[in-house]
Amino acid sequence: MSSSPEALLPKDQTLDAALRPASWDDYIGQEQIKANVRIVLEAAKKRGGMPEHILFYGPPGVGKTTLAHLVSRALETPLKSTSGVAIERASDLAAILTNLEPGTILFIDEIHQLSRKIEELLYPALESGTLDIILGKGPSARTVELSLPPFTLVGATTRVAQISGPLRSRFGGGVYQLDFYTNGDLEKIIRRSAEVLNLSVPKDVIVQIAARSRATPRIANALLKRVRDFSEVHERALSSVVCDEACTLFGIDALGLTKDDRRYLETLDRSFRGGPAGVRALAAALHEDVETLEQVYEPFLLRLGFVERSLRGRILSGRGRAYLATGALI
Ligand SMILES: Nc1ncnc2c1ncn2[C@@H]1O[C@H](COP(=O)(O)OP(=O)(O)OP(=O)(O)O)[C@@H](O)[C@H]1O
Ligand SMILES: [Mg+2]
Repeated sequence: MSSSPEALLPKDQTLDAALRPASWDDYIGQEQIKANVRIVLEAAKKRGGMPEHILFYGPPGVGKTTLAHLVSRALETPLKSTSGVAIERASDLAAILTNLEPGTILFIDEIHQLSRKIEELLYPALESGTLDIILGKGPSARTVELSLPPFTLVGATTRVAQISGPLRSRFGGGVYQLDFYTNGDLEKIIRRSAEVLNLSVPKDVIVQIAARSRATPRIANALLKRVRDFSEVHERALSSVVCDEACTLFGIDALGLTKDDRRYLETLDRSFRGGPAGVRALAAALHEDVETLEQVYEPFLLRLGFVERSLRGRILSGRGRAYLATGALI
């Protein structure tokens, strides 16, 4: 298995399902978002109606889908999951909306991928619970207004900038940015996952895994599992030495960076003299697409302060240079 940052974000369905928090208490961190969302939900419950629509955005693996599940659990209502790419035609949207059980949470993942045409159809559905359908073609075409069952849309996206202003303004229940996690929060998540997986993991190993998890719960869980596999295959108890050896084998350093991250930094340093480098030129030099650069590599490198984004392109920072020279955080 390769250890590119993408490979560290496997959407392992069974792993995700087993470790996905099923209660607010198990959902670690993001305290302000939790508090706000819970008020929106409580208020709706008290009124006996549906909450307003909610949008979550942030990097991959930080808990957006999990929050959508928690919203439906809190309201004890069904959840219908779909994604922006799956709703291509007006008829796709009509089929989903008209078949909703009343009171459903409609979760649209990667909602930025909805086309403008679908977005426009969605507006009246979000505002007044109606859907305008055009029947027929040409001069005989007529519009029929369908009444929809009550529902709440929960959207999630890694690319909030691609969501149009009009759509964004329709999330009356709030637009929430999920942050990266502190190492302390990741340690709590790893401790809980270890319990769920029935693993005994020493404290220093938990700390080590947290530090190498790129501030991302999904990576923390995946790394825990991989380190466990390593210790089982070698028939050695999980210890900090074993964890170190495993991570060396996986090509994940003490900061959670992989050889692909280093290749990014080195290319910026050598081929572009530290930048500014345009994102397209940098992506071409790395044989990656711009989207992978922006969504997978850069969020964490930016967070570490190794790379800066300017109008003229990406720049390797002093910290980034120091890391390349020493392999450590200075
Ligand atoms: N706050 C949290 N507390 C505990 N575990 C979490 C938390 N957030 C995420 N996780 C764990 O990380 C996994 C990935 O989270 P989730 O699928 O919700 O991320 P996402 O933001 O939807 O990612 P993507 O953008 O790739 O869809 C979950 O299955 C869960 O095990
Ligand atoms: Mg998700």
